[in-house]
Amino acid sequence: MTRAAVICGLGGWLPPRVVTNDDLPAGLGTSDRWIRTRTGITRRHRADPGSATSDLAVEAGARALASSGEPRADAVVLATTTPDRICPATAPEIATRLGLTGAAAFDMNAACTGFLYGLAAAAGLIATGAADRVLLIGAETYSCLLDPLDRGTAPIFGDGAGAVVLRAGAPGEPGAIGHIDLGSDGTGADLIAVGGGGSRQRMSGRPEQDGERYLTMAGREVFKHAVGRMADSCRTVLKRAGQEPADVDRIVAHQANIRILHQLADELGVDRGRVVANIDRVGNTAAASVPLALFHGVADGAVRPGQRTLLTAFGAGLTWGSTLLTWPELAVATGE
Ligand code: UT7
Repeated sequence: MTRAAVICGLGGWLPPRVVTNDDLPAGLGTSDRWIRTRTGITRRHRADPGSATSDLAVEAGARALASSGEPRADAVVLATTTPDRICPATAPEIATRLGLTGAAAFDMNAACTGFLYGLAAAAGLIATGAADRVLLIGAETYSCLLDPLDRGTAPIFGDGAGAVVLRAGAPGEPGAIGHIDLGSDGTGADLIAVGGGGSRQRMSGRPEQDGERYLTMAGREVFKHAVGRMADSCRTVLKRAGQEPADVDRIVAHQANIRILHQLADELGVDRGRVVANIDRVGNTAAASVPLALFHGVADGAVRPGQRTLLTAFGAGLTWGSTLLTWPELAVATGE
């Protein structure tokens, strides 16, 4: 019989430093009102200088392991766009810091869709028998990619980490990851990008220019892709499961913009009240976004056992992905 990957632990962590809209530099040329009305964001968390993605990941990972009731995993997958270093991958160090030395460990970069790609990787590891328990962490320190004076990105992105533990189980049981739809379109590679630091810039023989270290985003164009790609992907997953939008109790989508979340719900014909949102307090945390939204949703009582829960994300690449599951009973520590 096919082994399914079943969510059995959930954790989240935010670095303690809070940056409100009013705390943003005056030279940014924005306002609390603009950011709130156009994005839904009121604050975000920022990692302190000297910290790195692994520090956030370890906190979230430890909480997910505790939530699962067993501090054990035989694979650690880190979804991130902001690894500690280009080489080696960050996941092995995280595994060791969590007392999991010897576990399979690797990073994956699908930007804001990283958690959905990570779920597929975890499901594959479990289905093939390569692992019985997988710790999947989405963690980011986008602070290090942001031009502090770019109002198109600096107010939007925040730092944070969310994690789940998946165990081998039976298809269809609560928490079992169903069909996963994944996609990409490299023709949109430049729409959200960091120009410097990779082989393209390094092999060019010219030193990294100042602006190249920063993330750039063609916000308006990305917005349209985000709604359309996530809606199509959600429909694919629903169709595969023989379900209708009316069957969906909760949509937990990548938190990029509250207007995207509302348009996605409208496009699918799902009541906006069924969309889980924590963007107001965390901003866009990229690969950490979906697990953090799950974590806050469960902690706030918005996501409850038995609910048909649609997970969907979209991000740089371009990439997108979705899956559907019945939310399981989990013991989640509410403190971040
Ligand atoms: O996580 C990966 C996926 N990312 C996304 O899905 C992000 C999708 N995009 C967005 O969320 C939105 O496009 C943004 C929040 C990034 C921008 O909002 P927008 O409503 O699409 O603004 P826009 O880029 O269409 O710009 C409209 C106006 C422009 O001024 P003019 O040319 O009309 O005078 C911008 O310069 O708003 C201006 N603007 C701002 N004004 C104050 C853009 N950003 C800001 C700002 N504060 N922060």
